[in-house]
Amino acid sequence: GAPVEVDISTLTPGEMRTIEWRGKPVWILKRTPEMLASLKKADGQVADPDSKRKDFSETPEYALNEWRSIKKDILVVVGICPHLGCSPSSRFQAGAQPSLPDDWQGGFLCPCHGSTFDLAGRVFKNKPSPDNLQVPRYMFEGDAKLVIG
Ligand code: FES
Repeated sequence: GAPVEVDISTLTPGEMRTIEWRGKPVWILKRTPEMLASLKKADGQVADPDSKRKDFSETPEYALNEWRSIKKDILVVVGICPHLGCSPSSRFQAGAQPSLPDDWQGGFLCPCHGSTFDLAGRVFKNKPSPDNLQVPRYMFEGDAKLVIG
């Protein structure tokens, strides 16, 4: 399929957009400084903090960093659960869901079997998903344009 171009110039901090790429949802989330800080707190709670697993997909080299992204604030991941393919939903608020812990820092929750992911798409420990959310191939053209695929 052809690459998909997305104008991210109007994306505001904390805002998430979903676009379609090769029939899959791709999430683009502009993380706030607080959201980025939450990743450090999740480091000890996620199953594969450095994205070394390759069971579902290999994290591209440019996303093998603390943020799992090229630009620190912009998260780009495929919104499909690596367990059995359901679509997780965003849960940015603590207490938004009874099954989430009290110290929930925000992230994503798969409704099918309860896998939870942090704001870098990293799966929490002891969840059914065998891997983190997939980071697709992407690049930036200038500050405003994101090209996926
Ligand atoms: Fe997401 Fe099973 S499909 S936890």
